[in-house]
Amino acid sequence: MNDNKYSQKIKELMKEMTLEEKTSLLSGKDFWSSKEIKRLKIDSIYLTDGPHGIRKQSIESEELSLQKSISSTCFPAACCSACSFDPNIMYEMGEAISREAKANKVSVVLGPGINIKRSPLCGRNFEYFSEDPYLAGKMASGWINGLEDNGIQSSLKHFALNNQETLRLIIDSVIDERALREIYLYAFEIAVKEAKPSTVMCSYNRVNGIFASENKYLLTDILRDEWGFDGIVISDWGAVNDRVEALKAGLDLQMPSTNGYDDKKVYDALKETIIKENTIIDEKILDKTVERILYFYLYSMDNIYDNFDYDKEEHHNIARKIAENSIVLLKNEDKILPAKKESKIAVIGEFAQKPRYQGNGSSLINAYKIDTAEEYFKENNLEFNYAKGYDSNSPSIDNALIEEAVNISKDKDIVIIFAGLINSYESEGFDRKHLNLPENHNHLIEEISKINKNVVVVLSIGAPVLMTWIDKVKGVINLYLAGEASVSAAFNIIFGIVNPSGKLAESFPLSLEDNPSYKYFPGGNRAVEYRESIFVGYRYYDKAQKKVLFPFGFGLSYTTFEFSDLIISDASTIAGLDNIHIVFDIKNTGDLFGCEVAQVYVSAPENNIFKAKKELKAFIKVFLQPNEKKTVILKLNKRSFSFYNADTKQYEIENGTYTIYVGNSSRNLLLSKNIKIDSVNYYKKRIDDYFDFKDINISDNAFEELLGRKLNPINVKASKPYNLNNNLRDLLDENRAKYFYNELLSKLDVIFKDDKTDTKKMFESMMLETPLRSLSTMSGNIITRDDIENLINILNNN
Ligand code: BGC
Repeated sequence: MNDNKYSQKIKELMKEMTLEEKTSLLSGKDFWSSKEIKRLKIDSIYLTDGPHGIRKQSIESEELSLQKSISSTCFPAACCSACSFDPNIMYEMGEAISREAKANKVSVVLGPGINIKRSPLCGRNFEYFSEDPYLAGKMASGWINGLEDNGIQSSLKHFALNNQETLRLIIDSVIDERALREIYLYAFEIAVKEAKPSTVMCSYNRVNGIFASENKYLLTDILRDEWGFDGIVISDWGAVNDRVEALKAGLDLQMPSTNGYDDKKVYDALKETIIKENTIIDEKILDKTVERILYFYLYSMDNIYDNFDYDKEEHHNIARKIAENSIVLLKNEDKILPAKKESKIAVIGEFAQKPRYQGNGSSLINAYKIDTAEEYFKENNLEFNYAKGYDSNSPSIDNALIEEAVNISKDKDIVIIFAGLINSYESEGFDRKHLNLPENHNHLIEEISKINKNVVVVLSIGAPVLMTWIDKVKGVINLYLAGEASVSAAFNIIFGIVNPSGKLAESFPLSLEDNPSYKYFPGGNRAVEYRESIFVGYRYYDKAQKKVLFPFGFGLSYTTFEFSDLIISDASTIAGLDNIHIVFDIKNTGDLFGCEVAQVYVSAPENNIFKAKKELKAFIKVFLQPNEKKTVILKLNKRSFSFYNADTKQYEIENGTYTIYVGNSSRNLLLSKNIKIDSVNYYKKRIDDYFDFKDINISDNAFEELLGRKLNPINVKASKPYNLNNNLRDLLDENRAKYFYNELLSKLDVIFKDDKTDTKKMFESMMLETPLRSLSTMSGNIITRDDIENLINILNNN
């Protein structure tokens, strides 16, 4: 914005525009585009979902947000690509997606999603990068730069504290300031400062009582004033509660269209036709917003391309390359992998032929083409036997399918079982209830491992699962959701054509109960409390010394690496910390080309401020030929040693000895050195509950102390008079509302009669949970505002 190539033009337009025209630019024209003003030659701008591809709706299905979209490359989802630990490869994805956007005249791709994986149960974790904000911020920055360097705009989402699907449109995320800053906002901060996304999407939920869409602290004080964001804030679809308050807080573009309803509210407030104290708004606020929106329009209009084309095959290959760099080898006993091509091979599981390669919901891509096991074996002239093993649309055991799979597996040298989660288990719109694989997948693995000892399980999952059979199989490969080329990428790893190098971007717990948010997730019907504070993922498992199934940062290779000779540049003063260099060597000591991810963790002293045992502060992926040795230099800075002091409202460094570790997983630290830092801090009180714990059991008092205020009940039964912020779930005790809901359900039945993707389940849950005020926008007006107002009136007046 500051580079004002367009300032003159914006000034001229501002002079020309009427108040009505200005307010008209505050919201969308329809589901996917912004409004035009023909008189002033302001064109409508097109936005579509991402983030692992382009989901542009075909014209016929414009209003219904999940109907068929144009075909495009389905790149690996963020859960997978994060494991590459390679921002450069994220850049390549962003770059490729920018070409597809240009070819489709799309100006904004709605992504990346960067919310922290607080609980493995969050149904949408597949769209997010990590439990660690530093990693998430860096990976997102790579993607944004790749897209934006090529003229296409991103929308960093969902800002902020949208870490669950349950009641995501309404829930209040109650969090202490330190966890907010250090964990949940930090990823956004890195991406905003380092990659300067053109737009940020605010989330649906409330943050400490205030809807994100009208949260001035988040949208203006932190995002713009502290971090220097100068783009536009877009609302998540239907996230606006009070348009005037949202405008005052810093929300620029409301999406999708409200058919002028909300623009008029701003217009009226400005005209003071509604004389209510809290709706009065200063015209200067509107003007600033409109200026920002005009910049967005002018920039977008300058970056529309005619007849732009891209090479679809090349993009398919990029999708495969990203998958190959991200897939994580979790277990490789007796060096069962790489497999020999001449072996007698069984490939089991419908996911080998009908892969699950992406998650369900608004990010769903209509993939250009999908690689399968059969094609792979044919193209490579290899023999194999295949059995389906299960029906990929159902969790139920089919004994005939199991028996066939067992028979085929009996005389084989190696059995490769494709298994994983299904859409009815994980999706946008609802959270998972447990960490188990579907029963039929577990049973298949159990039965085959009884008759063949050489089993490799290949998982297609969007988030951690329990592996009850882990000791009975020799190999486990985690594909996550690796995009349209996932199956060919998997076989390239299985046959050693590619040496795996992915590292987990999240911890895999041994049980759900071990997860630090377990007792508090997903909260009540009003609020969810983040009582575990900064102890998310490995920050907790390390602190509580819990065993995990697989730790954060873990992943195997077919070769071996040696780390040595750690040197840390002098950093005896706090100022010196801004230029601290970590130098060490990595050598490939095996006989295959391979890549290793070096991870730098800092462990801080814990005097009066509770701390994680260690935190990731730098990483790099190093590519090495056999016997090759490289010297790596990474930089840390003051922030790498800081905590957020909620009392003084700034980042500070505590006095004491810090240890810098270098390793290839959070639980395999190979080199270390100490440094001493002298410092003084002011803090109000030490909160003992947060220092030593085995299990997270934070008392009301301790959490209130941390929050600095009293807690409100998280569960409140809705009662009359009902209002627009109630949802249908709140009203289901009322016969009239139940009838209304059943009517809607029958409409969904018709819309989704041929749907096999379990999308209906997502819509059902959204219908129940969406606040009444947004039902008409979100349903593309299938439910009208009148329907809603009538319903509320009838219920309130009996
Ligand atoms: C999702 C966003 C998405 C938008 C448009 C919302 O429900 O939360 O991530 O970009 O819909 O589809």
